Amino acid sequence: MGEQSSIAVLTSGGDSPGMNACIRSVTRTALSIGWRVWGVADGYQGLLEGLGRPLESRDVGGIIDRGGTILGTSRSPEFRETGNRKRAYAHLKERAIEGLVVIGGNGSVAGAHTVARETELNVVGVPASIDNDIYGTDNSIGFDSAVNTALDAVDKLRQTADSHHRIFIVEVMGRSSGAIALEVALAGGAEAAIVPEVPESAELTPLAERLTFNLKRSRKKSAIVICAEGAGRAEMIAREIESLTGIECRATVLGHLQRGGTPTSYDRNLAARLGWAAVKAVAGGMGDILVGLVSNAIRHTPLEDVTIHEHRFNHQEYALLGILSI
Ligand code: F6P
Repeated sequence: MGEQSSIAVLTSGGDSPGMNACIRSVTRTALSIGWRVWGVADGYQGLLEGLGRPLESRDVGGIIDRGGTILGTSRSPEFRETGNRKRAYAHLKERAIEGLVVIGGNGSVAGAHTVARETELNVVGVPASIDNDIYGTDNSIGFDSAVNTALDAVDKLRQTADSHHRIFIVEVMGRSSGAIALEVALAGGAEAAIVPEVPESAELTPLAERLTFNLKRSRKKSAIVICAEGAGRAEMIAREIESLTGIECRATVLGHLQRGGTPTSYDRNLAARLGWAAVKAVAGGMGDILVGLVSNAIRHTPLEDVTIHEHRFNHQEYALLGILSI
């Protein structure tokens, strides 16, 4: 009998609902093919300290429905320094690790590409971010859950907005992505979305004219505008819109609420499929790739491409929002 093969798994960057379901999938898939699994604590930062602990099947029991990540996560500036990374590589070598699964967003995927280039490890990225801004997959783990959390808030805000005939500006997460804003706006029947991918959406004079028409001429009871944090701040927009329309305006920032909560069935099953695909790729000798889901099929994309290209914004859906919000 030869040495037992080993794989390490870490979660990195902003947490997202479904990361735990993915850790479970990676662990149990690896165990099912006889591999040993190491769960690295706190992302790349933890890798600088050591390999964490071996994970058994029971260690990942009862976590499928929990938001956050049992492994912990971080954004690690230290790992960006070559000297520090050498320390991490020594830990991986010491334990004869053959593969590394990195569950995280764009920054984490870029880190995975660096590790793949600097070592002989088979490094596989799994897209997990509420922002849904990762190239190589239709959806990233956590996006659907975050959208549903934000949507629940928007549905509630609509009730008070209607009662007071007010305009609400609701700020959702998305540093450089309007994906959450668009999805929530369409599903919530919002009057508009302000997103970084459509710069003219942030022009407040035409927006104020539309909202005035909606409330004063079209007899709508209220208006809701969803704003991606990367496209403007709700408080400032609300002040400006109130002065342009003369209609009472309120701002709500949903913030980190969107990062927590129970993952939806979509995110849990996406996590299950991508975790499985990541381990299969490593066991098949593949590395420096992202496993994603495109048109409901597993797709392998070189990490190099993921770091260069951007996730496509759905302009058709954005146009539909305008049509339906009259
Ligand atoms: O990348 C996911 C994200 O939730 C962004 O939408 C947001 O801008 C950022 O993380 C917030 O990061 P932090 O939790 O470090 O404040």
